[in-house]
Amino acid sequence: MSGKVYITTPIYYVNDIPHIGHAYTTVAADILARYHRLLGEDVFFLTGTDEHGQKVEKAALENGRSPKGHADLLVENFRKLWDRLNISNDAFIRTTDKEHIKTVQGVLQGLWDSGEIEKRTYSGWYCTPDERFWTEKEIVGGNCPDCGRPVERINEENYFFLMSKYQERLIKYIQDNPSYILPETRRNEVLGFLGNNKLGDLCISRPKHRLSWGIPLPFDGDFVTYVWFDALVNYYSATRYLVPDTGEAGPDEFWPATHHLVGKDILTTHAVYWSTMLMALGMKLPGNIFAHGWWTVKGRKMSKSLGNVVDPDAIIDKYGADAFRYFLFREVPFGLDGDFSEDAIISRINSDLVNDLGNLLSRTVTMIEKYRDGVVPGPIDGKDREDTGSRIKSYFEVGPDPSFDGFLKQLQFHHALAWLWKAMSRTNEYIADSAPWKETDKEVLSNTLYTLAETLGIIAVYLFPFMPSTAEKIWAQLGIDRGMGEETEFPKWGDVHVEGNRVKKGEHLFPRIEKKKEGKKEAAGDNPPERETPEGAGLISINELAKVELKIGEVISAERVKKSEKLIKLRVDTGQERQIVAGIGKAYAPEELVGKKIVVVTNLLPVKLMGVESNGMLLAATGPDGAPVILMPDKDVQAGSGIK
Ligand code: MSP
Repeated sequence: MSGKVYITTPIYYVNDIPHIGHAYTTVAADILARYHRLLGEDVFFLTGTDEHGQKVEKAALENGRSPKGHADLLVENFRKLWDRLNISNDAFIRTTDKEHIKTVQGVLQGLWDSGEIEKRTYSGWYCTPDERFWTEKEIVGGNCPDCGRPVERINEENYFFLMSKYQERLIKYIQDNPSYILPETRRNEVLGFLGNNKLGDLCISRPKHRLSWGIPLPFDGDFVTYVWFDALVNYYSATRYLVPDTGEAGPDEFWPATHHLVGKDILTTHAVYWSTMLMALGMKLPGNIFAHGWWTVKGRKMSKSLGNVVDPDAIIDKYGADAFRYFLFREVPFGLDGDFSEDAIISRINSDLVNDLGNLLSRTVTMIEKYRDGVVPGPIDGKDREDTGSRIKSYFEVGPDPSFDGFLKQLQFHHALAWLWKAMSRTNEYIADSAPWKETDKEVLSNTLYTLAETLGIIAVYLFPFMPSTAEKIWAQLGIDRGMGEETEFPKWGDVHVEGNRVKKGEHLFPRIEKKKEGKKEAAGDNPPERETPEGAGLISINELAKVELKIGEVISAERVKKSEKLIKLRVDTGQERQIVAGIGKAYAPEELVGKKIVVVTNLLPVKLMGVESNGMLLAATGPDGAPVILMPDKDVQAGSGIK
């Protein structure tokens, strides 16, 4: 790796009210940026706003403002939210910046001079609110296939970027570079689209009489450029004027981007338009375009008309920025769609943040206060009972841990967090096993307390990209007075140097949250009536069957339940990560299950099997010898897929 890392978010439409979707991509980029800085790499993290186009012009007019004046006010909504979410972007680009406009015009002129742009008469169906043309085939009953509003027939002269000639080159590029588009399912979709459709040329102008709020074409003042052409160039123009000048590196220091993070809805504009634009310009393509999934609410798309748009400010007010950040990336694998609910965020806070993390810190600090007058003792070699301490040390032998590092490099944030939480549960087990409150050997007790404090000091650094202020609070309670933001190395065992520190017990990191009592059950009329089944026939209706929710799950990890021959505890990704316990231990070894796709009943009430909670059940047939045989799909299907 070059040591230079350039991470971008999409630039958001300035007149949108920021919602969970905007927060999602921006926090993802922040996690990556913070992680790479911790690795000692030079990071340039860019976000910003997309400010041209008809919608901004119209809204400005309605409010009696100039478009720029309107954008100047609205951009603050984004800046404020990024402050509240602790976003560490290095720059904020606005497409109304003079330097950006100049760069876009330079790019357009270059393409025009080299014959990559052509003027043609164009006839097509235009969706005014979406500001885009559709072909005859694409429109649905006279309406826009995207927003459903009526389209109008327009004949006019326009400028076209000759995108079609890059089709084969783009296919080959994507094929030759497996991580160019991720996740793989999205990559396959793009390849499928390019393989089955003939790519057209892209109309990149709008006549000024129809849209004046845009960047004028440098070679024809009667036209402005299409908003997407303007917007995509932001990734390049920012590197020309927003990179802090260190005096050492040239203007291409951060070119091309390492990761463009985008939502799945804007993958085509990035994977096809942007890639071919760069090819035509003879410029290097980005390292990776990652398309994440969408958040829904109770399974429905968020929309103003449904009144179900999740407002990040309200969530931060209630639960805090770090809990929100944690939830977004622990609950749903990055790349898949996820469903947002306050119940789910409260469960995560209570189980993972209050119990696993908060208690670990408060127990550690309390014991150091109680048994060592608040001063962290130093390590004493060999003073361990049954080697339990070295089990923990081995978790942090090198920094960063290769599996954690691998997960982050592949943007598998939920796996990285699961790994870290496993470290926490081992540490909690260590407290239970070593029972400091019963320890009679002073040296063993000191060594145990040191081990706990050092472990927490390291855990805090791993947590920092995800939950920056929580990580700093942990360090403060352990008496470490360095700022974590300046760290440029991942600590390994012994690097945090907690010995001799005076701990400072603070408030509990996360207060437990009471869930509201469940509302009344849905009115009976909400569900279709069930058809009666013939009495005694033992048959069930289709409605009864539909109550069972089955999903494809991917096994993330598997281990035997202590003291049981039969039970295996699995962490499974079914679109959401869950723990299930299955009685398959005599027929399967845990190692052979990891990575396998299985069928899981996901709406069973949780039960405890030998004290271990199980949230679901895997399906298995009874084999000839009575042993279970796990059902697995015979083709690869994505984790979280439903089963009909
Ligand atoms: N301005 C363009 C991007 C230009 S980038 C050169 C744009 N802006 S946007 O404000 O509409 O949306 C930005 C991002 O928000 C997209 O990545 C989109 O996927 C994301 N989301 C919008 N709603 C979302 C959810 N409900 N869930 C997750 N992300 C979603 O498009």
